[in-house]
Amino acid sequence: MILFGGRSGEHGISVATAGGVLGAIDRSKYEVVPIGITPNGQWVIADDEPERWAITDGVAPEVPASSAEVVLPLTVGDAALRVLEPGQVPSALADVDVVFPLLHGPYGEDGTVQGLLELADARYVGSGVLASAVGMDKHFMKMVFAGHGLPIGPYAVIRPGDWPGRRDIVLQTIEPLGLPLFVKPARAGSSLGVSRVDSLDDLDAAVEEARRHDPKVIVEAGIAGREIECAVLGGRSGERPRTSLPGEIVVTDETKNGFYDYEAKYFDEAAVQLSCPADLPDHVIKEIQEIAVRTFEAIDAEGLARVDVFVTPDDQVVVNEINTMPGFTPFSMYPRMWAASGMTYPELIDELVQLALERSTGLR
Ligand SMILES: Nc1ncnc2c1ncn2[C@@H]1O[C@H](COP(=O)(O)OP(=O)(O)O)[C@@H](O)[C@H]1O
Ligand SMILES: [Mg+2]
Repeated sequence: MILFGGRSGEHGISVATAGGVLGAIDRSKYEVVPIGITPNGQWVIADDEPERWAITDGVAPEVPASSAEVVLPLTVGDAALRVLEPGQVPSALADVDVVFPLLHGPYGEDGTVQGLLELADARYVGSGVLASAVGMDKHFMKMVFAGHGLPIGPYAVIRPGDWPGRRDIVLQTIEPLGLPLFVKPARAGSSLGVSRVDSLDDLDAAVEEARRHDPKVIVEAGIAGREIECAVLGGRSGERPRTSLPGEIVVTDETKNGFYDYEAKYFDEAAVQLSCPADLPDHVIKEIQEIAVRTFEAIDAEGLARVDVFVTPDDQVVVNEINTMPGFTPFSMYPRMWAASGMTYPELIDELVQLALERSTGLR
């Protein structure tokens, strides 16, 4: 089952990813059941047409509502997917061996869908409940990273009840961070709600913008450095996770927001360049790969994750974040980094499904 769409702000990106995967998955090996989740959270049978789900003319596609709902079995040992149509007896759609959740953001990448799949004893691609939740929440993510001695930058947290009531107290934790600041929703992605703040006069507007996505906000000291990403793939049968060659994000159009924002990520091809492999000295590449594995293991990630770091002018590596369901269209950094490391997009999809089939259900 290819599961995509969903309730988060990254619905359209998820749908575009599904288009890529549906177009590339080996049909001689897998029988594919595409299931879409509408922006309202309805599960529906979706068209098995890769082109239908591509980003066209700068518009991200959406899963349309349907009168036929799909229900996942919640009884252990039952793998049958059923369709519910008004006035009809539920009909069996397929028996599912493995679920590939191509969902980004809350209600998909954050452990919620993973929890549902755990209840059903279903096998699925990617991280489990806890790793997904930690990978989604930039606040807890940083605490886990710090607990593992991973290099992270200074930050402050604005909890839901702190703003605007305790603004003065919160400001005391933000001021020492200096400028510029990066203000972000704690649980979002694709740069949604992220602002760069160059003067404290602009802080309130940035916090409000972040709070449109999440009542919990994180404020970080800006790190001056190159933006480097590294793809991690779970190891087969107990082996250590594998890493790709790192790639680099080069923001070429500084006239806009001057960072890798939502527009630059998906809609403005000229604003950003993804270069892979990144031009870095061998010892720095090695260090990034080691830190990427440690980051993956720090949160108990499974299957796949992309670890994003900054590399400062004096070659210090600072971890920015881990994404347990990174952008996964054929043009996204994660597949491109594997392509540069010798694994094609169809091979990568196959490897992820095989990793999911290999792992046991239940507590691991
Ligand atoms: N502390 C920081 N210093 C410098 N740039 C940052 C910092 N945090 C975020 N950015 C910029 O903002 C972008 C989005 O932030 P990120 O934390 O990766 O959020 P998301 O989960 O939405 O991708 C980054 O790719 C980077 O360009
Ligand atoms: Mg990011």
